[in-house]
Amino acid sequence: MPNPAPIVPCDERSIQTAADIISSGGLVAFGTETVYGLGADATDGAAVAKIYAAKGRPTFNPLISHVTNLDTVRKIGHVSDIAAQVANAYWPGPLTLVLQKTTNCAISQLTTAGLDTVAVRIPGRDIVRDFLDACGAPVAAPSANASGGISPTQAAHVAASLPGPDQGGPELILDTGACDVGLESSVLDLSTDTPTLLRPGAVTREDIERLIGPIAIAGSDDTAPKSPGMLSRHYAPRTPLRRDAVDQRAGEVVLGFGPTEIIADLNLSQSGDLLEASANLFDMLHRLDAMDASGIAVTPIPKMGLGHAINDRLKRAVDR
Ligand code: TXA
Ligand code: MG
Repeated sequence: MPNPAPIVPCDERSIQTAADIISSGGLVAFGTETVYGLGADATDGAAVAKIYAAKGRPTFNPLISHVTNLDTVRKIGHVSDIAAQVANAYWPGPLTLVLQKTTNCAISQLTTAGLDTVAVRIPGRDIVRDFLDACGAPVAAPSANASGGISPTQAAHVAASLPGPDQGGPELILDTGACDVGLESSVLDLSTDTPTLLRPGAVTREDIERLIGPIAIAGSDDTAPKSPGMLSRHYAPRTPLRRDAVDQRAGEVVLGFGPTEIIADLNLSQSGDLLEASANLFDMLHRLDAMDASGIAVTPIPKMGLGHAINDRLKRAVDR
C-alpha cells in the first residue's frame, strides 16, 4: 500500500491522539484480543461510511459497536435476563451479542445497516477499553482488512491491506501486539426468542449452552443466513484453498495441523492445540497467500470446539 497509516505503540499519549481522531470523525485501527478492528464513532454515520469505503465493504454488512460496560450496552440494546447472564459470564471477551435496539438508540443506521437490531461487544483487553473510554462513544469496528480479505492479527497486516490516510484509510494504527485469539468474536443473536449462534468463535456453542441451554446454529436449517457477514466471500485469501488435504498437488503449498503425513510449509500447531492453531490461522494464511502458489492445501482440522470456528473460516475461503 502506498503511504500506509503510521503504526504507533499503544500508550496513554497515542490513545489520546487516536481518541481525538475518532471524535473528529476519522478512522483508527486498533488490536483487540480477537483481530484488529477498523474503528469509527458508531453514532456518526459519516464516520462509519468511511469504514465501508476504506474496506470496499458491501454496505449491507452491519458492524459491531464496541463499548466498555453493560450500562452503555443497555442504552443501545435491550438486555434480557438471558443476555445479562451471558454478558456477565463472557464479557469483557471475544463474544458479540445481537440485541433489539432501544427506542432512543444513538447508534447510526449505517452501523447497523438499517436493521432493528444492534451488535455489541465489550473487548477483553484493558488497553482497548482505555481507548474506547477516551473516545467517549461506542466505536464501530469491523476487521481492519479490505473486504473479502483475511482478517488482520498484527498491526503490519492492517498496513498491508488498507489504504493510507490520504486514500481514505485509517489515520493511525494503534499497535497492541499480536492478537491472542486470532479469530473474530463469536456472534450470538439474542434479539429473537431462539438464541442463535450466527458466527462461531472462541466462546463456543458448548460454553453458551452450559449457561442458557440449547441454542440454534445459523445455517443449520434451510433459512437464509441472517448475519450478512456469514456470506461466503468474507474470509477468502486470493489463492484457491482446499480443505482436508491428504496429499500435495503440483504447485500447492501446505498448511498443516499437528503431525501430518505430507510435509507442511507451515503448521498451525505442531502439537495439535486448537487454541494455538486459531491464533496462527490468519497470519499463516497471509504468509501462504504471499507465496503465489497455485493453491493452499490444508490438512484436516478436528471438527470439535474451536476447530468448528477454524473449519468455518476455511470453508468460507473455499466457497468463494
Ligand atoms: O472480533 C470481532 O468481532 C472483530 C473485532 C474488531 O471486534 N470485529 C468483526 O467485525 O469481526 P465484522 O464487521 O467483521 O463482523 C461483524 C459480524 C458480521 O458477521 C455481521 O454480519 C454481524 O457481526 N452482525 C453485525 N450486526 C448484526 C446484526 N444486527 N444482526 C446480525 N448480525 C450482525
Ligand atoms: Mg471481517
